[in-house]
Amino acid sequence: MDKLVIKGGRRLSGSITASGSKNTSLPIIAATLLTGDGAFTLHHIPDLKDIMTFTQLLHHLGAETTFKGNTLHVSSGNVESLQAPYELVKKMRASIYVLGPMLARFGHARVSLPGGCAFGPRPIDLHLMAMEKLGATITIQTGFIEARAKGGKLRGGHIDFPISSVGATGNALMAAVLAKGTTTISNAAAEPEIETLCKFLVAMGATIRGTGTTELEIDGSNSLKAIEFYNVFDRIEAGTLLAAAAITGGEITVNGVEPEQMKNVLKKFIHAGCSIETTKNSITLKSPDKLIATDVTAKPYPAFPTDMQAQWIALMTQADGTSHITDKVYHERFNHIPELNRLGAQIEIHKNQAIVHGPQRLSGTKVMSTDLRASASLVLAGLVAEGTTEVLRVYHLDRGYEKIETKLNSLGADIIREKYNEFE
Ligand code: EPZ
Repeated sequence: MDKLVIKGGRRLSGSITASGSKNTSLPIIAATLLTGDGAFTLHHIPDLKDIMTFTQLLHHLGAETTFKGNTLHVSSGNVESLQAPYELVKKMRASIYVLGPMLARFGHARVSLPGGCAFGPRPIDLHLMAMEKLGATITIQTGFIEARAKGGKLRGGHIDFPISSVGATGNALMAAVLAKGTTTISNAAAEPEIETLCKFLVAMGATIRGTGTTELEIDGSNSLKAIEFYNVFDRIEAGTLLAAAAITGGEITVNGVEPEQMKNVLKKFIHAGCSIETTKNSITLKSPDKLIATDVTAKPYPAFPTDMQAQWIALMTQADGTSHITDKVYHERFNHIPELNRLGAQIEIHKNQAIVHGPQRLSGTKVMSTDLRASASLVLAGLVAEGTTEVLRVYHLDRGYEKIETKLNSLGADIIREKYNEFE
């Protein structure tokens, strides 16, 4: 198992390029299941464990994939198995994304129920509701979702999501593009990941109206074709890198980004005292002498994203004053807080709100990762903690950050990746 050994107290400076978006890669890779006509070439795909897991799943289903230098080639002509097994689905909840495309193309899909998650329940009821609205019958048996399209083909329908769900919107879109007739989706997620999925599906030949909004209309196509596509940047990685600069009192430029997609995150950095300069595809953050405590409420896009909540809490431990961070998407996404407090932070949790008292001097020690963004917040804290911080179980981090220590070290951090045996 790997750990990151971080020597704190080094100010970050310089420039770095963001990797491709993990949360866009996963649905567009799933969408390659929609057609056996041709081979896909997907560029700017991050080299992450979650991507490897997803390509393993595609292999299991019969697709051919090769991945080299952030370009993924996929051919789904020979897909025959329609079962996504527990062994793979348990590794990554996003495996549920194969449900919509398999049901749309083959009229049948059998997907293991995803496992739990470190930060509370993550149901899939909205995914199943969407499939049923498109004419699928769903049964759950022996831990599997058994989905069949009545008459062998999905038909258009109206899906009205009671809450905004990125995954369920993605599945609904991938099911609707091959359904017979027109589908409307109300209260669709409008995250950039979904906007990019819509553009990907349209490039494949789908007809989608309302891209980028919460009201989508899809005319089912008879067939779609494989394409070459350039993935967008990872807005959460970019935000995490900016937080790394801010927490160390540094100044960095992140390239290859679309500042427009990070508007509300950048606003919060400015409220916290940072200066932010943007060009069409870069963001420069300059830290203030003193960070200002800044409240944040995580909500669906375009609000401040829940995937930046843990990183913001780490940053606020160094801000002057008390800040309130509320997560309205995942009410229990606070596993990072006990570990941050072990580093010397003073954070309380009240229901789905963290109250951070700052500034607090942090001192390095061993801390345990529990989930992807929690581990990112521990790395950020380690960058500013006195002495050495050891972040254990960094397999959580490797799910969503491509060579994070290489990136941070290129900006002046001192991080070494080491093997360790947890039972020593
Ligand atoms: C996506 O997860 C992201 N993952 C998550 O990022 C992100 O935190 C989340 O969206 C919210 O932005 C990927 O894109 C692979 P949701 P997803 O469905 O689709 C509830 C990361 O760190 N809900 O938008 O699973 C759910 O419990 C990961 O990169 C239902 O009730 O999230 C939550 O409260 C973590 N029923 C809310 O909706 C459902 O059927 C939003 O979840 C589905 C969701």
